[in-house]
Amino acid sequence: MKQYTIAIVGATGAVGVEVLRTLERRNFPVAGLRLLASARSAGKTLTFRGEEVPVQELNEAAFEGVDYAIFSAGATRSRQFAPAAIKAGAVVIDNSSAFRMDPAVPLIVPEVNPGDILGHKGIIANPNCSAAILSVPLWPLHKAATIERIIVSTYQSASGAGAQAMAELESQVRQYAAGQPITREVFPHQIAFNLFSHNTKVAENGYNEEENKVREELRKMFHTPEMPICATCIRVPVFRAHSESVVIETARPLDPAEAREILSKAPGVKLVDDAAANHFPMPLEASGDLDVHVGRIRKDLSHPRGLALFISGDQLLKGAAWNAVQIAECLSKA
Ligand SMILES: NC(=O)c1ccc[n+]([C@@H]2O[C@H](COP(=O)([O-])OP(=O)(O)OC[C@H]3O[C@@H](n4cnc5c(N)ncnc54)[C@H](OP(=O)(O)O)[C@@H]3O)[C@@H](O)[C@H]2O)c1
Repeated sequence: MKQYTIAIVGATGAVGVEVLRTLERRNFPVAGLRLLASARSAGKTLTFRGEEVPVQELNEAAFEGVDYAIFSAGATRSRQFAPAAIKAGAVVIDNSSAFRMDPAVPLIVPEVNPGDILGHKGIIANPNCSAAILSVPLWPLHKAATIERIIVSTYQSASGAGAQAMAELESQVRQYAAGQPITREVFPHQIAFNLFSHNTKVAENGYNEEENKVREELRKMFHTPEMPICATCIRVPVFRAHSESVVIETARPLDPAEAREILSKAPGVKLVDDAAANHFPMPLEASGDLDVHVGRIRKDLSHPRGLALFISGDQLLKGAAWNAVQIAECLSKA
């Protein structure tokens, strides 16, 4: 079996560490690893398959001999260093927003549009975490009944904003419990015991960057450039896994029982829909799972062709690390 040399750019971050764990978990055929981060992390080590691997400072020479370069260090680093990785012969799998809406760059969730990978020219983009998680259960429903409109409200965890944001939630909880003043550096508002509109800039259309990404990226992956989508993105005091309340309108009525049947067989989906036990998707249960949990499937009583559902998915995995490794798996099998 062919073995691959993998570079992880941003290896010390919330996503980068999960890429490393996912390569282990999937037993990906790794011949060599290049762990890259800022100068601050040079000299640190991370464990891979029981061995300590040194972290190196990211630079253009770091990609020699690399097959797949998984970038998770922000859009600025992706724009600056992806060309060097491609020049060295690597395929870039990018978790940042740098190239997602570039028409020449495929935006991929393997359960949704794996065929789009074929057209890549050296870069494959991973969608925004909320869009990725949303796409997995909606795609099989779209194939079955043609979604004509989506209304989605998100409940996004702190780790979606990176390792420091997760640490800020924990430190604020400790400060609160100790009766100390609550301090903040990462989020614009207190995250512990609070929730707020997503911490990205509100654009002229009235939607923040996250909401615009959810709409535009889902349209690109589904090949439905006009699909009406209204997103409201909210940050909540959860460490890990994003949840989403979703209402769809379909071209033909989709009965909850039929939707359940479709979703029970859909790749990348786990049905968690036990009304008797009041047991539905929860971020605590979705954390660490590669599948997106979906449940609370019911008729939207306000619309004859409406269906409501609730999803929870580990955004560090399906929204980033796992989706990237899954793309590498697709490439390695192509
Ligand atoms: N968190 C999520 O759920 C999620 C989901 C989808 C996509 N993403 C995207 O993934 C990327 C990383 O997010 P994250 O949450 O993992 O952030 P993070 O925890 O803040 O980690 C950032 C990583 O980037 C590295 N980095 C920062 N500045 C650098 C520089 N100048 N040169 C080289 N490396 C540098 C950091 O290295 P040091 O440790 O040395 O500072 C760290 O490894 C972002 O583009 C984000 O939009 C995140």
